[in-house]
Amino acid sequence: MDESFNYNKNDLKEVEEGLTIIKFPEFDKVSSTAPVFYNPKMEFNRDISILAIQTFQKKLDKNISICDLFGGSGIRGIRYKKEIQGVSDVAINDISSVANEFEKINIEINDVFDLEVYNKEANLMLREHPGEFDVVDIDPFGSPSFFIDSAANSIKKNSLLCVTATDTSALCGTYTEPCIRKYNSKPYKSEYCHETGIRILAGFLGLSLAKYKKYIDIKLSHSSEHYIRLYISIKKGSLESDESLKNIGYISHCRECLYRETNKGLAVAIPQECKICESKLTHAGPLWLGKIQDKDFIKEMIKTSEDKKLNTKDKVLKLLNTCLEESNAPATFYDVHVLCKNLKISAPKYDLILEKLLDKGYLAIKTHYTPLGIKTDAPITELKKIVKDLAIN
Ligand SMILES: C[S@@+](CC[C@H](N)C(=O)[O-])C[C@H]1O[C@@H](n2cnc3c(N)ncnc32)[C@H](O)[C@@H]1O
Repeated sequence: MDESFNYNKNDLKEVEEGLTIIKFPEFDKVSSTAPVFYNPKMEFNRDISILAIQTFQKKLDKNISICDLFGGSGIRGIRYKKEIQGVSDVAINDISSVANEFEKINIEINDVFDLEVYNKEANLMLREHPGEFDVVDIDPFGSPSFFIDSAANSIKKNSLLCVTATDTSALCGTYTEPCIRKYNSKPYKSEYCHETGIRILAGFLGLSLAKYKKYIDIKLSHSSEHYIRLYISIKKGSLESDESLKNIGYISHCRECLYRETNKGLAVAIPQECKICESKLTHAGPLWLGKIQDKDFIKEMIKTSEDKKLNTKDKVLKLLNTCLEESNAPATFYDVHVLCKNLKISAPKYDLILEKLLDKGYLAIKTHYTPLGIKTDAPITELKKIVKDLAIN
């Protein structure tokens, strides 16, 4: 894309993230219409990416090549080269030639080498470089769905795919049809819809990669601010891909009593009636019912953080420690307020509910999705009884 954009070289905004400084033309509001896109809120996302890619690099134990497919100001790709050990080269791509200009300026400012700037439509970039990158980072405006087939085709075996989706209104069920169109999956709105969103995106990725006999192993997933982010190890093998697709299934939810159940299988018979109150169930899927947090990988990320200068480190560690806990938990969670509204009682103390569940031998795990979320293996009837008893006493 050819654009002409005039700016005053002495009137650029300068920001510092980690060990990296970048410049770009000042704009009023973070939006896709900014001449060069930079979102300060995504520093947290980039900090986490540094830890995830460094952890992946350590496990692979060789120099890695990275593709920053939607470069913007270049901050992501430049940080990856400057702040991650064992990176041989980084390709920074953007369809905007103005972005490319600033990517080059910022590469120079940071005095980094072996970074190449590309001006390609993202799908073309991937199709023209099959099997070249150990890490592909997909951080587009809105939905990544339009780029997943090219990524699935192009990505190497034993690689890491990092994917951001900001179209959470589709993935999390505010709008059903766009989710069906983009992710071929039906969502529904619920207290745990951000987890469902992650599982829908993961299911779409798993199915897309399987076409190319590649399969996914999710290392970390989180829903933060306005986006969802997944870090996925990609491996190759037809049998393993078939096996991995057994993680595709459905979540069924009762709006009357909050009961939910999961059923694995692409064409599995889904129950229509709630087992507790016999109301009609609503369904989400097909989606990923396999693990969405990897305990060992997250532990290694936490360890890796000790050697990194990250401005958002405290927040990153808080998220990683909660995701680590979640790695032991079943799918979906309850929200204390939603539960109490359903029971028509005022809410007892959150910590007391956790304590009581643990006393009774159930799992009681906090979630990163919401401060009042509880992941548990207790049946809904038992959980309600505990909450009611605590509310009365
Ligand atoms: C959300 S921004 C990327 C932000 C960047 N990754 C960061 O961390 O700051 C999306 C970028 O993708 C570029 N873009 C939009 N559509 C594209 C396409 N089809 N192919 C390649 N680049 C595209 C835009 O010019 C914009 O710079």
